[in-house]
This record gives sequence, C-alpha cells and structure tokens, in this order.
Amino acid sequence: MSSHAPPPQSDLWSDWLLHIRHAGEPGHERALHAELRQYADRVLDGARLAPGMTLADIGAGDGLIGFSAIDRIGPSLRVLLTDISAPLLRHTEALAVQRKVRDQCVFIQCSAEMIDGVEGDAVDAVTTRAVLAYVPDKMAAMREFHRILRPGGRLSIAEPIMRDDAIEASSLRQFVEGLPEKAGDNFFHLLHRWKAAQFPDTEEKIGASPIANYGERDLVRFALDAGFADIHMEFHIDVRPAVSSWDVLLGSSPHPWAPRLGDVLDQKFTAEERRYFEQILRPQIEGRRLVTAERTAYLTALKPAR
Ligand SMILES: C[S@@+](CC[C@H](N)C(=O)[O-])C[C@H]1O[C@@H](n2cnc3c(N)ncnc32)[C@H](O)[C@@H]1O
Repeated sequence: MSSHAPPPQSDLWSDWLLHIRHAGEPGHERALHAELRQYADRVLDGARLAPGMTLADIGAGDGLIGFSAIDRIGPSLRVLLTDISAPLLRHTEALAVQRKVRDQCVFIQCSAEMIDGVEGDAVDAVTTRAVLAYVPDKMAAMREFHRILRPGGRLSIAEPIMRDDAIEASSLRQFVEGLPEKAGDNFFHLLHRWKAAQFPDTEEKIGASPIANYGERDLVRFALDAGFADIHMEFHIDVRPAVSSWDVLLGSSPHPWAPRLGDVLDQKFTAEERRYFEQILRPQIEGRRLVTAERTAYLTALKPAR
C-alpha cells in the first residue's frame, strides 16, 4: 500500500463553486452562469488583452475568466490559472481538455498571497474575481499581482463587497437584543440567527473576517501601496429579485464559508421555529417580494513602466 494519501476529490471551494452556489439545481445554475459571464466581460474589458499576451487569472475557480479570455482572444493567448484548491484545478484542467485549449493553459496550485511558480515581470495582465474576499492578507496578494506583472501590464479585478451584509447582520443583532427575552415566536430573532450564521455580526468578528473587513476604498489603497498607477475603481450596486425557489434558498449559501440556510435551520432552529420561519418567509420568496443588493468593486490599474 502506498504511504501517500490519495488527493482529495473535493474541498470546501470545489463543493461550493460546483454545487452549493446553485443548490445543485440546473435551472438556477444556468441563470447564475449568465450573470457570471457579465462579470467576466467587465473584468476582461479592464484587462485589455491582445493576441500573443500571457494572462494570469488568480483564484481561477472553474475557469470563468480564463476560458472567457481564450474565447475572446483565441489560440495565441496563454493563460496561467492559479488556485488554492487542488480539486478545482483538476476539474478545470479537465474542462480545458474538453474545450481543446489545454495547450494554452498552465495550472498552478498556490495562494494569491504567494504566487510561487510565476516569475517576476512574467505576465501581461492579471485578473481575479471574487478571490481577494477570501484572502486574509490582501496587501500581500496585491504585491504579488504587482510582482508578476511586466512593467506596463494591467490588473483588472472584481470583488464582492460583503461588509454591508455583515453590517446588516450586526444591526439585526442590536435590534433583537432590545426585544423581550422570550423570543422563539419572534421572526426577527430567527432572521438574526440565520444571518449571523452566514455573516459576522459583531464589530469584533467583522474586523477579523476577510470577507467583511474591507471595502472598495481599501482595495484602492492596497493597489496604491503595492505600486500600481492609473488606478480606477467603479463600485456597482445591483438590486435584483432574490431567488424565487424555496429549495434553492435552502440548498445554497451566499459564499463558500457560509452554511446553507437548510443546514442553519437543521442545526439552529427547533422544529416549531422552523415551521414558523418558513410560514412567514416562504411566501415572500415565492412571491418574488424580496430583493438582494449585490455590491461589486471593479478595479483596474497599471504597473508603471520602469
Ligand atoms: C468565489 S470563487 C471564484 C472563482 C473564479 N474566480 C470565478 O470568478 O468564478 C473563489 C475562488 O478563490 C479560490 N481561493 C480561495 N482562497 C484563495 C487563496 N488564498 N488564494 C488563491 N485562490 C483562493 C477558491 O478555490 C475559488 O476558486
């Protein structure tokens, strides 16, 4: 028997990206992918790629940005797809084979904070989407983006800003703390229990959480401190109807570190609380009366020529 353990088939990142994000529901997955393509287009517009260039997509996931870049530029584009997750890299390499673009791709397992295996001044563009949110040392990542870019190379990123979700969870906590003790039948207590399971809900937890302890202005400062020039930030807020399927809401979670609502209900609610919560929330969801506000920071920058 080999002393080496077999590589894991899945991890938190691959489970979320390939299943939990869309609750394993094909219709919702298709709708989500249509939305994701819009993010990819915006990030790639900012990267200003041209034939013959090399792009590094950091935290490449299942290749949203990398494969869209190849679709745009064609066979002369070289793409380095880096990710911390070995199962995701294997999955995405298999997709590259299916797409017949494997020869254009290099797969590198590393953290955004230390992009080992990519030399300094090696790439024409760096992209990343929804990755810095999960990186504890965002400044280190920004310095690595600067290091691997050639002088004159461009950075284009899109990051969710989830601080407001945490602030909402924190406001809910403060609100329910002022309510009478007996709370099992109070909807706001249950709402807070749900939100606090998925987002930090105290100032201390917000400060310690990589998903909540930064805003769009911090990204600008990180880019400036790392040595980038021509920094441009656009902050978008898109208010859309929340998912209209109760099962999708139960089976999905808003980010890879958050439990699914279904698991929150199983673990933190009594059967009676669960019934009461569903009785109030489900008609709102199915009647499309709830909205979500997605906040996204788009940043582009240039590594100055020496
Ligand atoms: C929300 S997904 C986004 C994936 C992809 N960029 C996209 O736009 O679809 C977050 C990705 O970041 C990767 N990731 C998480 N922590 C990371 C880290 N410290 N360094 C590099 N990648 C990381 C995960 O494995 C996952 O692929």
